[in-house]
Amino acid sequence: MRQFFLIYAFLILLVVVVFGLRGCKTENTPLEVFPDMDRQNKFHEQGKTVFFEDGRMDRRPVAGTVPAVNYKQSEYGHLQPDNRFRENTYLATGRPEGAEAFGDGIPVEVSFAHMEEGRDLYNIYCAICHGESGNGNGVIAQPRYGYPTIVSLLQSRIMEQPDGEIFNTITHGKNTMGPYGAKIRVEDRWKVVMYVRALQRAGAGAVEDVPEANRGDLGL
Ligand code: HEC
Repeated sequence: MRQFFLIYAFLILLVVVVFGLRGCKTENTPLEVFPDMDRQNKFHEQGKTVFFEDGRMDRRPVAGTVPAVNYKQSEYGHLQPDNRFRENTYLATGRPEGAEAFGDGIPVEVSFAHMEEGRDLYNIYCAICHGESGNGNGVIAQPRYGYPTIVSLLQSRIMEQPDGEIFNTITHGKNTMGPYGAKIRVEDRWKVVMYVRALQRAGAGAVEDVPEANRGDLGL
């Protein structure tokens, strides 16, 4: 009997707790059992703050910022990269007009300045995987990062590929390598090809390539 009353009282209490205060207004902060991330100390767009001097949560773009161009192409057309490459199939694809096979040759001026740009781009985009010397020992190639398929660019199979094929690999990626066509502009991709060729030449260097007078520096 005692148990019955206890359960009865508990049930009444439960009903009152669940339904009893429905519709009542209160000034108190409601009890939040699971606050999730409803309230956060964060900035909202167009909000006010005392943190910045101008009182705005939005920051102005850094001076010289160029808008990312996509659906507003017509509006920002003048800021777009030069599109003239579209008229030159080989420059744009690595395949001569109408051909299935890749072509050979670098369709941008081969100069020291371009080679340096190619080196900078290679070091930015490729070296993390393929290594600064192209031997495939980039940081990401360490076993703990779990990317075991990275290859050396100095192997003869890749040295024998036509320039257009390397250009195509950069543009579209290959097997387990991602594409870089959207990140590196057309002409700049050719500069990377140029630099990859230089790395391959350096990687295949022999003692005979070093002038006799300097061979002592090699410490051989
Ligand atoms: C995130 C790592 C990664 C980056 C960054 C990367 N690669 Fe690769 N690359 C790979 C892997 C992995 C392969 C081997 C693909 C396969 O066959 O599975 C490869 C293969 C290649 C090949 C050989 C393709 C063939 O025909 O077998 C070339 C050439 C190459 N990369 C050039 C580049 C160049 C140039 C860049 C910089 C623009 C670059 N890669 C950036 C991972 C990367």
